[in-house]
Formats: sequence, C-alpha cells, structure tokens
Amino acid sequence: MSRVSELPVERVTSPMLQRWKAEHRRIVMTTAYDAVAAHIADPAVDIILVGDSVGNVCLGFENTLPVSMAMMNHHLEAVARTKPRALLVADMPFLSFHLSVEETIRNAGGFLRRGAAAVKLEGGGKRIDMVRALVDCEIPVMGHLGLTPQSVNVMGGFKVQGRKAEEALRLLDDAHRLQEAGCFALVLEGIPAELAARATESLTIPTIGIGAGPDCSGQVLVFHDVLGLTEGHRPKFVRAYADGFQLLHGALSRWAADVRSGAFPGPQESYRLPEGLGDAITNWAPSNPT
Ligand code: KIV
Repeated sequence: MSRVSELPVERVTSPMLQRWKAEHRRIVMTTAYDAVAAHIADPAVDIILVGDSVGNVCLGFENTLPVSMAMMNHHLEAVARTKPRALLVADMPFLSFHLSVEETIRNAGGFLRRGAAAVKLEGGGKRIDMVRALVDCEIPVMGHLGLTPQSVNVMGGFKVQGRKAEEALRLLDDAHRLQEAGCFALVLEGIPAELAARATESLTIPTIGIGAGPDCSGQVLVFHDVLGLTEGHRPKFVRAYADGFQLLHGALSRWAADVRSGAFPGPQESYRLPEGLGDAITNWAPSNPT
C-alpha cells in the first residue's frame, strides 16, 4: 500500500503546461537525482528535473561545469526507473549542446531513450539553432534564461541578471526567440520579479521561476533546498519547508546510540531458530579444535 494518500494519476505531458498557463494553474517543479527523491517528489509536483545541479548538490563539485553526459545519464536512469507521473525533464550539461547539431541531438535523444520526456538547456540567442534542431527531431525543449549557472565564469559569479536595461531587454528578446524556436516552457532564474512578470505576461508558453518573483507561471526549487538538506549558505530565493538535515542527523544519531548501548537490534528486528534447534546449536563443538 502506498504511504502517500493523494496521488494524482494523470501523467503530465509538455503540451499540458501551456493549457495550465492559460487556466492560471501554477506549475510546480523540483529536482530529483535518484529513485528515493523521485518517489518522494512525484506525488507532490508536476515536473521532475534531473538537474545538472547534481554536480554541486550531490557530487561535491563547486559548480555545474564538471558534470558530464555520463553522470547525467546515470542519474536520469535511476529517476526514470521509478516511472514518475510528473513530466521528467533532463538537463543538458555544459558542452553537451554546444559543439555540433549532431552531437546535441545524439545527447538529447539519448536522454529520451533513457526515459526523459523533455530536455532543458541553458542560454538564449546563441542556442536558438540547437533548440530548433531538437524540436525538429521531436524532442521537447525547456529553455533557461537569466542567471544560468553554466555561464558562471562569464557572469563573474552567481549574480542576479537583468538589472540593466540592455540586459533586461535582451532577456525579453531571447525569451520570445526561444518560444518561437519551439520551447514548451522557460526557466527564469535569478532575475528581478518585474522582469519575470513582463516575460510571463508577454509569452504564451509558461515560465518557471527560481529567484524570479511570484508572477511566473510556476516555481522550481532544488529538492535538497526545499527539504533543508543542504548545510551552509542558503540563497535569498530559497524557502526550506523542513529542517531535513537536523531531522535526518537526529534519527541517525539515535540509531547509532542504540547500537552502542545494545538497544538495537531488539527481538522485533531479530530472526529466531525454529523450536528445538536451539539445543543442537548449544551442544555443538568444533570438530578440529585449534
Ligand atoms: O540544475 C538545476 O537544478 C536547475 C534548476 C535550478 C532550474 O537548472
């Protein structure tokens, strides 16, 4: 029996999201990098993103740049095996969609063959040709504009984007070019709320904000951030809905204390011999004592 009481049954598809925007139904997206997180997230959200944030959240990298296709495929396969009802989107890592159209299609197509229903890629005008090529191959694409983490070196750090008029106008142009190229949705990250609101109202495709204010068509946060599983600096745009780190650390510490005191395992966690065999074991002696 499921431990989750309310499971929406309809599988989410990329064409549904445009309708939801028109109906003012807000879209919820989070990340999952493994089957455990996917099982927890699936009943609660509409989109599961196997994000390249796996690099800094789980794999100990400073940023997302070292994340490879092999790493993404490994994590995507784990999530896909859970067969989520949420739309499963896989993030194209750095350099997986830059070198040639052919390689971009092969990488994105590989994601779909592994169970993703769509791919996400960062960037605006410079990536339009790749987006078009993917859409031409029947691969649904989610765009990603604003504070795009793969551009950390060009941005000079993880800084809010679109605060200058020229940057803000370029973002609006890029958003419309991505829509025109066939993106079914756009992530808007780390931009002023007013700019995200203007993009959202002027586009027909939904926007999914992260640090982009309340007027996007939906919101995305990293799973570990929502659950308070990450230690250290928490960006302004994150709201943790649990102190997961303390909760899990507390539980593990109680188990460790029980092991040390002998309170774990108890009779209920132990197997017993069938009636009568106890004597045979007690009376046993090694045949070749050393
Ligand atoms: O990789 C990721 O987790 C992302 C989201 C934050 C949008 O790109």
